[in-house]
Amino acid sequence: MADEHQPRADAHDRRRARKPGERSSPPVEQDGRVWRIRSLAASRQVLRARAETTQAGFTAERIPRGVFTKHPILISDGPAHDDQRSKVARFFAPAVVERYIPRMESCADRLLDEVDGSFELDELALLYTVEVTADIVGLTAAPVPRLARRLVSFFNQPPFDITRPDLGRTPRQWASAAVNGIVPVVRLWLADVRPAVRARRRSPTGDVISHLIAEGYSDADILVECVTYGTAGMVTTREFIAMAAWHLLRDDALRERYVTGEQAERYAILHEVIRLEPVVGHLYRRVQQAFEVGDGDEQVTVQPGDLLDVCVRAANADPEAVGTDPLDLCPHRPLPAGVAPYGLTFGDGAHKCPGQPLAILESDVLLTRLLARRPVLLREPTLDWDDLIEGYRVRGLELRLGASADGAGSA
Ligand code: HEM
Repeated sequence: MADEHQPRADAHDRRRARKPGERSSPPVEQDGRVWRIRSLAASRQVLRARAETTQAGFTAERIPRGVFTKHPILISDGPAHDDQRSKVARFFAPAVVERYIPRMESCADRLLDEVDGSFELDELALLYTVEVTADIVGLTAAPVPRLARRLVSFFNQPPFDITRPDLGRTPRQWASAAVNGIVPVVRLWLADVRPAVRARRRSPTGDVISHLIAEGYSDADILVECVTYGTAGMVTTREFIAMAAWHLLRDDALRERYVTGEQAERYAILHEVIRLEPVVGHLYRRVQQAFEVGDGDEQVTVQPGDLLDVCVRAANADPEAVGTDPLDLCPHRPLPAGVAPYGLTFGDGAHKCPGQPLAILESDVLLTRLLARRPVLLREPTLDWDDLIEGYRVRGLELRLGASADGAGSA
């Protein structure tokens, strides 16, 4: 029997990152103290309920706070968080990140020039995103490939279920989580953050680390912000670049539009791909004060202590918000006022991603240069899933450059 919660078989379904068993409805569903929010409108209400909720994603509620004098940006809430964001925003504003275009271009060209025969785009994209963001943040003391490996190792965590009080982990898994969490932090501190902090205390530059020093951040505070930018910024953008390239390489008409289009056209394509394929699959908030969620007759009241699970993949494919055929890939799809072309992929409200303009710009710079070299798809990638961001991982997207005279295509 057909499952009413799965997309219709006759609809155009071009989503590649499909998680088995994941439901697209009902719009709001109660499961004990957990509410699954799948409507885009209700999800936005949750993410904008800044006074009534606190951050509960990324195991935020398990991160000890005593060691920090400032709360890490991703897991803090309230006026101090607003202040932190407005100060950091100037490093990531569109006009500011555009200044880095020449460096992004030369980094992309260098990495592509170094390619010899076949290569995995997801590996190249990792080196590229790490180099670009490390430059803005100031993590420039160590070679990029080593910094990239250190950042990736943060995701090497035992599985967990955020809806369970103990995250569903056994004591042995907790012990391994502690080791797997602390070792990469110590390595990042010794190899990257400490040398950067020492150098900038002597002579500040215009990067994020110099700014944090000027704001009175302690070494521990700076370290944790670097972990956030590294993991929230570099690793997520890498996945998106690989996913976007996969779509573009498998769809000749889409690729032609991208290659010949102006920036506005290319961005429309990238926004639509990232709406369809959000990198962070779920966002979580803990209710601190009761409030109403939903619309019309469908209102529910969530209570203090409840966990709100914003299902981004479902919300981004909510036909009420994004129109018919929500799983089709339609750049420039008509959207109602207030719905971003990338849906809720970058969140909304108090924690909305400050790196969104950078993520799209740097992806566009690399993809434009990659496609100009007429890549051939040699091997389809595999997809698996990460617990921490509940997102996809695209691995083994193997390409060769410039071998075919008539452009890209699958081998
Ligand atoms: C495709 C790439 C990216 C995706 C999909 C993404 C997604 C997100 C999402 C969904 C959030 C909100 C989390 C929440 O509401 O709980 C977020 C927050 C954040 N992102 Fe991104 N991000 C990307 C790239 C970047 C980049 C390039 C940077 C900067 C280097 C960055 C830095 C941050 C920071 C600092 C936060 C925390 C903001 C806060 O809590 O106030 N992200 N990101």
